[in-house]
Amino acid sequence: MITVKNNDEVLTVTINRPDKKNALTPSMYKAMADAINSAKDGDVRVVVIEGINGVFTSGNDVAEFASAQSTTGVNETVKFMQALLNCDVPVVAKVEGLAVGIGTTMLLHCDFVYAHKNAKFAMPFINLGLVPEYASSYLIPRFAGHLKAAKLLMLGEFFDVDVAKECEIITESSADDLQQTVDDVVTKLRNKPRTALIDTKKLLKSNKTFIKSHIDVELEVFASAMQRASAQEAFSAFLDKRPVNQKIFRE
Ligand code: COA
Repeated sequence: MITVKNNDEVLTVTINRPDKKNALTPSMYKAMADAINSAKDGDVRVVVIEGINGVFTSGNDVAEFASAQSTTGVNETVKFMQALLNCDVPVVAKVEGLAVGIGTTMLLHCDFVYAHKNAKFAMPFINLGLVPEYASSYLIPRFAGHLKAAKLLMLGEFFDVDVAKECEIITESSADDLQQTVDDVVTKLRNKPRTALIDTKKLLKSNKTFIKSHIDVELEVFASAMQRASAQEAFSAFLDKRPVNQKIFRE
């Protein structure tokens, strides 16, 4: 479900659950967290995160959301995001196809994000009765301004690479040479002095303490939203493949 390759100082984490559009489960978050944390001790100079089958990820597994009784359901997600935030070497994301929910949110914590021109992004939390997560409610307004952030987070609709670039969610979009683009930047990063690169990242991320406290605030709001009838109705509707009952959802 998560494939990890460590080749020539490059750790590649592949989200590999094609039958569910690479939706993420607690065990997958754990595997990703363990892999990224392992980069700290070894000779890894760059981490690459990618999906499989032309999809990055459709986000958190909605069935897991539906069965989570409290924040325990999101513990592994928290560990994964902490690993990403604390990763001291550069993280490069290669995005093809769908990058939904945490699939978009995690990009905000990567250092290089290359997306195929077919990529489609969404942070549809509001459509599940949920709220933004992992500092997206802080970072997106800072990257893109309040008006664009409100559009992305209050409407929760899909957007394309042009909007993602405008909002500083991706570094660049490319067509069929996406793998080459990623390989080129990985090669460049591998040839930089390791400590200077790590120090540069640390300096660029000097607001990490604030980001972490904002994440805690979001998580508290997220946890209470998950228990609400509107969220439960949205989860059930998705799983039952039916429209939401508007009366319950709009409460
Ligand atoms: N959680 C659980 N299952 C998911 C999933 C998710 N996030 N995303 C897709 N799947 C499942 C579908 O239920 C379907 O399963 P089935 O074959 O057993 O019926 C399978 O993956 C294929 O998905 P499908 O919906 O048929 O593909 P699509 O290309 O028509 O649509 C999405 C793709 C991502 C737009 C759509 O699946 C979707 O909206 N998923 C939910 C996204 C979401 O809300 N994520 C959480 C954000 S917080």
